[in-house]
Parts: sequence; C-alpha cells; structure tokens
Amino acid sequence: MSRYFEYRPGDGYEAWLQYRRTDQGTKLKQYAPYCHIAAVIQDEVMRTAVNELSQGLEAITGHLVDVAETLGESSGILLGIFGASQAIDEAIHADVAGSVRTEGYAIQFDGRTEQIAIGAADSAGLLYGVFHLLRIMAAGGDVKSLNRVENPVNSLRMINQWDNMDGSVERGYAGSSIFYHDNRVAKEYQRIQDYARLLASCGINAIAINNVNVHRVESRLLTDFLPDVTKLAAIFRQYAIKLYLSINYASPMELGGLATADPQNPSVREWWREAAAKVYEAIPDFGGFLVKADSEHRPGPFTYGRDHADGANMLAEAVKPYGGVVIWRCFVYNCKQDWRDRSTDRARAAYDHFRPLDGRFLDNVILQIKNGPIDFQVREPVSPLIGAMPHTNQMIEFQIAQEYTGQQRHVCYLVPQWKEVLDFDTYLQEEGTPVKRIVDGTVHGNPCNGFAAVSNIGSDANWTGHLLAQANLFGYGRLAWNPELSAEEIAKEWIRLTFGSREPLFQTIYDILMNSWEIYESYTTPLGVGFMVNPDHHYGPNVEGYEYSPWGTYHYADNHGVGVDRTTATGTGYTSQYADANKQRYESLATCPDELLLFFHHVPYTHKLHSGKTVIQHIYDTHFEGAERAGQLLAVWERMREQLDEQAYRQVADRLEEQAEHAKEWRDRINTYFYRRSGIPDEQGRTIY
Ligand code: GCU
Repeated sequence: MSRYFEYRPGDGYEAWLQYRRTDQGTKLKQYAPYCHIAAVIQDEVMRTAVNELSQGLEAITGHLVDVAETLGESSGILLGIFGASQAIDEAIHADVAGSVRTEGYAIQFDGRTEQIAIGAADSAGLLYGVFHLLRIMAAGGDVKSLNRVENPVNSLRMINQWDNMDGSVERGYAGSSIFYHDNRVAKEYQRIQDYARLLASCGINAIAINNVNVHRVESRLLTDFLPDVTKLAAIFRQYAIKLYLSINYASPMELGGLATADPQNPSVREWWREAAAKVYEAIPDFGGFLVKADSEHRPGPFTYGRDHADGANMLAEAVKPYGGVVIWRCFVYNCKQDWRDRSTDRARAAYDHFRPLDGRFLDNVILQIKNGPIDFQVREPVSPLIGAMPHTNQMIEFQIAQEYTGQQRHVCYLVPQWKEVLDFDTYLQEEGTPVKRIVDGTVHGNPCNGFAAVSNIGSDANWTGHLLAQANLFGYGRLAWNPELSAEEIAKEWIRLTFGSREPLFQTIYDILMNSWEIYESYTTPLGVGFMVNPDHHYGPNVEGYEYSPWGTYHYADNHGVGVDRTTATGTGYTSQYADANKQRYESLATCPDELLLFFHHVPYTHKLHSGKTVIQHIYDTHFEGAERAGQLLAVWERMREQLDEQAYRQVADRLEEQAEHAKEWRDRINTYFYRRSGIPDEQGRTIY
C-alpha cells in the first residue's frame, strides 16, 4: 500500500489491511503456489481488484506475483466476470454462477488444478471477492475448503462524512477532515484513495462527502467546486464506491439568487434540474443528494407551507433521468419544545412527521432513519418509524462516530448495539419481522434500501483516534454487507487482521471489545434514560446538561423519582407508535425491560427492577462496578505490552488511562446527583462523593 504517511510500525495507518507476515511464519508458505493471477482486465474496478490481489499476495507471502491473461496448467487465482470470461465460466458451474447477484461473487478452490476461481456478475463483485480471499490469507486461514457464494444483503452500504470545508468535522474525534481544509477541497488524493480502499475492503459502496449541515461554502460543492468533486468521485469510483453530496435546501436562493426555495415554484424546480444536469455531466455515476431539511434550523419545505414529500420529490425528479436518488433524513424534531409540558415528546417526532406521508414519496426517494427515536444514545429503543411506512423506501442510520459513547477516547465497540437493533422484532407484519429484513427491502419489497452511518475517521495517522475504534468502522461495513454476521465473529476477524492471533493478546483484545459497551453504559446514563452529557460538545457527565431543556431536566428527576413517562395510558403516548406486541411490552412495568425502564416510565427511586434491585441501588452499583471495570481495562492492557508494538501499545494505553479517570468522574457525578435527589444512601455504605 502506498502511504500518505511515512511508515511507522504500529501507527495503525494500514488498519486491517496490513497483511501481517511476521505473525504467521512458515504458515504463509502455503500460499506461495497462488502467486499467479489470471485476469482479462475490463475496467478500472477490475484493475483495482487485480492490483489489490497482487499487492496483498506479495505482502502476505513475500513472493513476487505475476499477472497474465490465462493460468494454463499452473496453480493460481483466476478472476473473471461470468459470460465475459471463458475460463471463469469453465471453472464455476453455471448453477453457481446463476446465484451470484449484483456485487456478489462466487469463490471456490479446485483441488485438481490447484486454482482458486473468483467469479462475479460485475467488477465490483470481483473486488469484494478479492478482499474476501485476502482476509482469509492474511489471517493464515485455509483456502482449500473455499466453496461459497456471497451476495450483499443490502444494496446501499453507505458512509456519511460530517466534514466541513473549513477542515473541521462535526462530531469528529480523530483529527481534522481528510477531504477539506481552508474552505477548499484538499488535494491529498493519496490519503483519500487509502480511505476508499479501507471502505471497499469491508464492503462499503457509497459515500456522502460533506456534512449534512450544509453551510454556504459547502453548498458550492455542487457548483464552483464541482471539478474537485469530480476528482474525488474518480478516486472512489476505482473502488466501486459512488459519491453523493449533502445539499442545502435553500441553494436556489444562496447560489442561484432566487427569491424562494419553494419546491412548487417553477424557477426553483428548474434550478435543481439544471444543477443535477451539470453534476451528472461531470460525474455520470453520481449517486444523488443527501438532505437534512427542516431539522435543527436547516432550511426546508416547511417555510413554504409544503411538507417533506413535496420537498423530496422535487429533488428526486431532478436526479431521476440519471438514475440518481434522494436520501431524505427523518431526524426532525422541535428544538424549542417546552419541557414543562410533559405531553410533547421528541421521541415521537419522526413518526408523527413522516408516517402520514407514506406512499407520497417517489420511488427514487429513500428515507434515512436513525436507529433510535432520539439521537445515538448509549441505549435507546428502536425507532418505531422503521417499517411503519410500507410504501416508502427506508434505510437505517447508525453513528460510527462515538458522539455519545465516549468520543473515541473511551473504548466502545458498537457492533453488539447495532446487532440488537437489527435483530429487533418489530412485529409489524407478524412475529418475525426484524429490522434487518425491513432495511434490506424484503419485508415490503422496496427497491432502494440499506444502511448509512456517520463515519468516525479523520486526519489522525490511525484514522479513528482510538486504535480500537477501527473495529467499529470495519464492523459497520461487514454488517451492512451481511447483518447475520455476529458481533463476536466480526470482532475476531478484525483482531486477527489488525493484531494477529497470538495469545493471550487475541483473547485480551476480544474481551475488551466485547465488554466495552456494557462497561461504558454502566458508568454513564442509566436504564435508557438518555443524555446526561455536557451541552453542545456532548462529552462528559452533566446530569442536567440537556441543551433543549432550560426549564427542567430531560429525565424529570425529582425527589421522588426519575424517568420519562412515554406510556399511552398516562404519558406522551409514544408507546402507541409500536406494533401491539411491543407496545404492550413497553407500556407495562411488569414487562418493560430493565435497560429501557427510564426511557418509558417515570418511577420512584425505590421501584424494584426485574433484577430485584431498586432503581437507586442499581444506579449506585452499576456506577461503582463500571468505573472499576474501566480501570481494569487499563490493567489488562498493560500486561500485553510485551506482545505489542510500542506505538500501538501507547496509543491505546493513553486512551484507556483517560477512560479510567473519566469513568470515576462519571461515577461520582451521577451517584452524587441521585443521592442528593433521592436522599437514599447506598446499601453498601460506599462513599458516594
Ligand atoms: C446530532 C448531532 C448533530 C447533528 C445531528 C444530525 O444532533 O449532535 O451534530 O447535526 O445529530 O444528525 O443531523
């Protein structure tokens, strides 16, 4: 891999593509016979696939790799597109080939010829097949049993950059933007290519390259900066990744000098048609627009008395002739809500706004819905809007950036959280209607669907600030490709590729990752109630720090109890947005799961959880335990020093040290607050503050 940085072992730049040779020793000799590649290169993605394979093989085996059009009798690796390569059609049975869909691939080993064949319906599939093979070889795995077909479960597997052109990254915790600085597009193409490569290697196929909050300067990406955007699109194209832009709804006014951005106004419609035509002239495979409208002070159709469907459809018509899509975000709520009024509820907002519009969106509009109804908290229920609009394309939005989960200073492996969301049974059709089947389009037969997530990378040498946060980026891509993969499998795969499989290092990192979400949750916000972070930057404990709550607390803690009553019987009615089985479960104290209790109910501190503890004692216990476990993370990491490259060791040790300290601060702030509120002492008599 050509590097943007001068190579420093252990800096993390190569991430999971470092092809660690040292670890595997003689084992890697087994791959030497495959250092011959046969491919007839048909386009640039196929060229990338061949380059990646030959560079990867060389790095893994230490042998030179030759590339020819055929293998003849030699052992080696055969790459080809079905129907276009006779060799691949001969190597892979037509029935198998017939089961490979867009971007999928078949990979198999032939014991007679000692050849590995990778066949696909398109060159993107070949690229994914190559990365599959390299994952196995880099981990020293067995290639002789290869015989499988892989198709991506989700057609759209997208990353959202929240990068601003001044070089900052909204909710970015790993340095500055790699895309922009000084209000220009940065010309650091090598770094961007290295990023494209990381993304493609775990299955990502789409990227929106600017923040959803589009300021005046970024709106010009669509116009003045289009030549730069075209160059970026070319880099991502080599890796089969389509480029999208976030747009500002008021662009016809800001850029076009029009007096309105009303979606029904003919001049506005014409402005967007022309803008789309110019973009597609420059970038024929441009993906489309990502839009945050009428949300957190962003302009949108509401100003003109229009609704979201009017707004989205106008843009969708503009990109339709070119096969483009409009991704319209559903993160819409009333920031000015008066928190003395307990009948209104931010959690209800997305459903209340969008559900009545089902069926009104054009078929190239996709609604992008955050996984929970609030905002990427450490624990939230699943958004009830997911699946509630059968006649509308939907995709789910996750946040890989750890805005509320430790900001990449604390370790928090998020794949287990995402898995819970994806496996959640919505009961919308019947028992067995999980979120993953809705967002992959199978439940409602919707054509456009998939995953989006806010990226966690920046200019730091290791991309993600915390080295262990790389596992979230990798895990997101793998899960978007196949939501059936388990959090455990993904963690193991990532550790093997990044740190090797030597023990006890392997098991130590595995345990750190797999326990990290639970640990983080235990010393931060309890029982699903949400927020309790400092306003604006959202880092660190502040029980009453919710920025939109000047008149009270977000969680309504008083001397008697805590939690938000979202029941239908006595609260905001939010529970009624779920299918009956889930509504009943959340509505009743008897069945509401402990971890979401305070999201759904306001209860006295003495209320007994299913665990048998009172709410207040649960808060004390989890906070004491959580802070202690955070401290232990550092202790176990310190014991691994000998097995680690010094740089890698230090990077993580520094962060774990900060986490251990910060966890104590969390413990003390939360425990003190609730002790003062409730007046109830800790049963175990520990010092609260
Ligand atoms: C959160 C985040 C904002 C972001 C917003 C969004 O509220 O704090 O920075 O703009 O989500 O998703 O649009």
